[in-house]
Amino acid sequence: MTALRYPSAERNRGPILEVLREWLPEEAVVLEAGCGSGQHALHFAEALPGITWLPCDLSDEAVASATAWREQSGLPNILPPQRLDAASERWPLEQVDVIYSANVIHISPIEVMHGIVREAGRRLSPGGLLMLYGPYLVDGKATTESNAAFDRSLQGRNPSWGLRDLDDLTARAADTGLLREAVIAMPANNFLLVFRRSQL
Ligand SMILES: C[S@@+](CC[C@H](N)C(=O)[O-])C[C@H]1O[C@@H](n2cnc3c(N)ncnc32)[C@H](O)[C@@H]1O
Repeated sequence: MTALRYPSAERNRGPILEVLREWLPEEAVVLEAGCGSGQHALHFAEALPGITWLPCDLSDEAVASATAWREQSGLPNILPPQRLDAASERWPLEQVDVIYSANVIHISPIEVMHGIVREAGRRLSPGGLLMLYGPYLVDGKATTESNAAFDRSLQGRNPSWGLRDLDDLTARAADTGLLREAVIAMPANNFLLVFRRSQL
């Protein structure tokens, strides 16, 4: 099993961790949809020992990499990584405190964004959080020329990929009972979005 290294995950994990420290409760179970290399799981589980992290991904290579990082680390608060198609209705946990997904919904068909929002609405515990990291369209437009170019390149690679619109995402989340609590500006023209399920 190969533990993959994504330079982007090494760059953004520090700033993301700072936001997680602020928003996550001391103890919680986090399901990560689209864990990629598994480096985020490793970094965050190491820094936040009260958090139990479940890395999941569609790709067998990603699951194998996250498994390799977990085994090398010996960290008790990373659960065995699982294969998950986030567009599907078959998720590994019935209920979860936090769903986290970074750089996934623009590099996959729109059904993946729909699936994550739908299952967050169904599975988040009362007061639970959906946290989505990546670039977004604001008022239907990319926030910078480099993000516009990135959007075009994604659509060139796969017409079903592309930056997602913040208002569309927010409206869809509201339909499932998730209210947007924060849009946090992150380095490199990304945002970390925080949605919360009501306490009821
Ligand atoms: C650009 S990588 C991001 C990985 C990691 N979250 C990070 O930020 O470094 C996108 C990941 O989403 C995964 N992915 C794509 N479609 C998915 C789906 N339907 N369900 C779960 N994961 C998916 C890919 O396999 C890939 O590992």
